[in-house]
Amino acid sequence: MKLVRLLANLGYGSRKQVAWMFREGRVTDAAGEVLYADDQVGHDDVRVDGEPLDPPLGLTLLLHKPPGYTCSTKDTGRLVYDLLPPRFRLRSPVLSTVGRLDRDTSGLLLFTDDGQLLHRIISPKAALPKVYEATLAESLRGNEAVLFASGAMLLESETTPLKPAVLEVLSPTQARLTITEGRYHQVRRMFAAVGNHVVALHRSRVGGLALDDLPEGEWRALDAADIETLMAAHG
Ligand code: URA
Repeated sequence: MKLVRLLANLGYGSRKQVAWMFREGRVTDAAGEVLYADDQVGHDDVRVDGEPLDPPLGLTLLLHKPPGYTCSTKDTGRLVYDLLPPRFRLRSPVLSTVGRLDRDTSGLLLFTDDGQLLHRIISPKAALPKVYEATLAESLRGNEAVLFASGAMLLESETTPLKPAVLEVLSPTQARLTITEGRYHQVRRMFAAVGNHVVALHRSRVGGLALDDLPEGEWRALDAADIETLMAAHG
């Protein structure tokens, strides 16, 4: 791929803007030799203003989403993309979120520019478990786990029952819920269906991948081993 296209795809600017960067001599090889727009040089050998390039296409990353950020590229207010380097929003193919978390939900959020991987992760066939910790307004009644595990629970205005889900009671108002689907506001609606209300929600795990000690608001790129870990666990 010609360098001008590579840099435009990585979000360094439009083709026109990137072409100017070449004219200004801002794009060099590792030894500082100026490169030209139609050169074809390996990603690792290119520098912009002396800095290595952003990660190549085929990028998947994990963000510890804080509450208050929306999973969108253009909503008003704070966006999850505000927590990533600004260029990441301009990449082509787009770096999209893998599913969504509500604005007020915190925790593990994945992004990828790999459409095939995205479909593998969200595919009902993969049935990847997603683990949520919920803080509830009311004490649990005690019958929720059986109902959630039944495979017969219907959410309001839906006709297909939910797949069995696993509820662990952590305290009267704290629960860990593992689901293998991704229906709209699923966790909040499940607790609403049993007369409760979720006051805080955090996702700690997707598939075999956990947030571990990644601080809130921070992200890291996933490598092939991470992706294997992610896909290894089935619900
Ligand atoms: N279920 C919800 O209700 N909200 C989320 O953000 C994720 C799952």
